[in-house]
Amino acid sequence: MSIRTLDDLLAEGVSGRRVLVRADLNVPLDKQSGAISDDGRIRAVLPTLGALVEAGAKVVVCSHLGRPKGAPDPQFSLRPVAGRLGELLGGPVHFATDTVGESARSTVADLADGQVALLENLRFNAGETSKDEAERGAFADQLAAFGDAYVDDAFGAVHRKHASVFDVPARLPHVAGRLVLREVEVLSTLTADPERPYVVVLGGSKVSDKLAVIEALLPTVDRLLIGGGMCFTFLKAQGLEVGTSLLEKDMVETCRNLLERSNGKIMLPVDVVVADAFAPDAAHDTVRVDGIPSHRLGLDVGPETVAGFSAALSSAKTIFWNGPMGVFEMPAFAAGTRGIAEAITKADAFSVVGGGDSAAAVRALGLDESSFGHISTGGGASLEYLEGKTLPGIAALEN
Ligand code: 3PG
Ligand code: MG
Repeated sequence: MSIRTLDDLLAEGVSGRRVLVRADLNVPLDKQSGAISDDGRIRAVLPTLGALVEAGAKVVVCSHLGRPKGAPDPQFSLRPVAGRLGELLGGPVHFATDTVGESARSTVADLADGQVALLENLRFNAGETSKDEAERGAFADQLAAFGDAYVDDAFGAVHRKHASVFDVPARLPHVAGRLVLREVEVLSTLTADPERPYVVVLGGSKVSDKLAVIEALLPTVDRLLIGGGMCFTFLKAQGLEVGTSLLEKDMVETCRNLLERSNGKIMLPVDVVVADAFAPDAAHDTVRVDGIPSHRLGLDVGPETVAGFSAALSSAKTIFWNGPMGVFEMPAFAAGTRGIAEAITKADAFSVVGGGDSAAAVRALGLDESSFGHISTGGGASLEYLEGKTLPGIAALEN
């Protein structure tokens, strides 16, 4: 990889220089309290930020949070993230209440060597995500004015052609941060030469989101285990009735075709937990997949499925997992996700958990993070990497 790294930048000396760091601090917030419910993505950039602080840089951090519509929206403010980041770094983080305005300018200008500032949500500016090159470029000019060098450590956003990811590195000396390097290193072992058997577990709600990665993975993997909401479209493709479960009707034919071409590599659930409603306290039972009642919906995979998937995982040497097996946020429908996660930790394999959601699930279920080989901070980004797509944020670092 012809990418300059944080170590190259540190070797040049950054003391007294302003270093603009794009991070992915897009953390989940509790709907009621607004509190940060999982700080994994904040922790993941600490190695890069810590090294810059230690080297005496003036560190200007920027990120998006959620999907505000190009204008300030208090529910998506990064202010709580600044607080948490300060606690984790063990020093104050100066928060700018805008992204490229008066507050940002004075906050950056006032930074002393070794201090850290966080700008307000990049997506409060329409220029960040604009499809119009000129609009994005104008915003990138303003952002780039805050740095003498640029570090991309926002792995979760490298698949976005956004100003802070794609256009700013064209305007400043640029390097990859520690997190981006580690992520790319790990994912490249999966695409290059995975130790076999290589087993992939996919869940989540929509086949349409995963279609490209399934296509890309089928020739490479030894086994592809499919659970989560998307399994019902596959079950339908096998001619089964799925009641009121999630179903993408226009994908049934595609799934049938994938099953035909998969040489038996695709494994589907044999039993599922069906409920009367999508609710934590809904009445529910486990049924075989050929016995799903017409008025009920599947919200988790069943115990026989967990046993079958676990057997396939137990002999694996390489595992990639993306997407929950069921509605794990509701305890009644969490057993499938928990069972598969536990099987992955028990396998004598190099395991990679891909995705903000799957990573959050690991922590929410109280599983030991260190028993996985690597927990990626990128969901869409890791899938697009495995699809073999060119990622705008990585391409921008290569130039
Ligand atoms: C994510 O959580 O997927 C990343 O932070 C990217 O966010 P986005 O999907 O809103 O671009
Ligand atoms: Mg996303």
